[in-house]
Amino acid sequence: MGKNIVLIGFMGTGKSTIGQRLARKLGMIFVDTDREIEKITGMTVAEIFRKHGEKRFRSEEKLLAHKLAQREGLIISCGGGMPLDPENMKVLGENGVIIGLKASPEDVFRRVMRKRHHRPLIDRDLTLERLRAMMAEREKYYQCAHITVDTSTHGIEELVHKIILNLKEFCYGKG
Ligand code: S3P
Repeated sequence: MGKNIVLIGFMGTGKSTIGQRLARKLGMIFVDTDREIEKITGMTVAEIFRKHGEKRFRSEEKLLAHKLAQREGLIISCGGGMPLDPENMKVLGENGVIIGLKASPEDVFRRVMRKRHHRPLIDRDLTLERLRAMMAEREKYYQCAHITVDTSTHGIEELVHKIILNLKEFCYGKG
């Protein structure tokens, strides 16, 4: 597959886990945009937010989206906020199939609270109610996906299988 596969979705929907499995299965190269930005800047995502603010992080994301869109054969797991800038999705979508991952607020809540120290937008007083509101607010940004998969309903292996079937259908049509 020449094109890239671009995973988008709210925090905690399983982009990195599924992306790594997909990469192994399809023999593609896995790139996580948060980790890549950390390598480039020499700071953790949390540090960038704390020392330089969200704006700086978003501009690193934008630069990276343009850079990755010029490559091929990548599975790109995007930070949850990558689609907030439509230009990012435009460039990534021109050279890739965009897969949207979604999950129930309950699942997301459990997953993001576990790693909240790495997520500057999640504070320890977050309630399920507030998370629901954040997810609803973000929903429109994830609608640019070519394929959407719910990660709350299946195990990882099943999900990876389902995504590969969906990709084949999307790229080559049914039958
Ligand atoms: C963000 C999601 C995070 C990370 C940053 C901002 C967001 O990535 O990029 O904390 O705005 O949704 P994950 O979705 O991998 O947690």
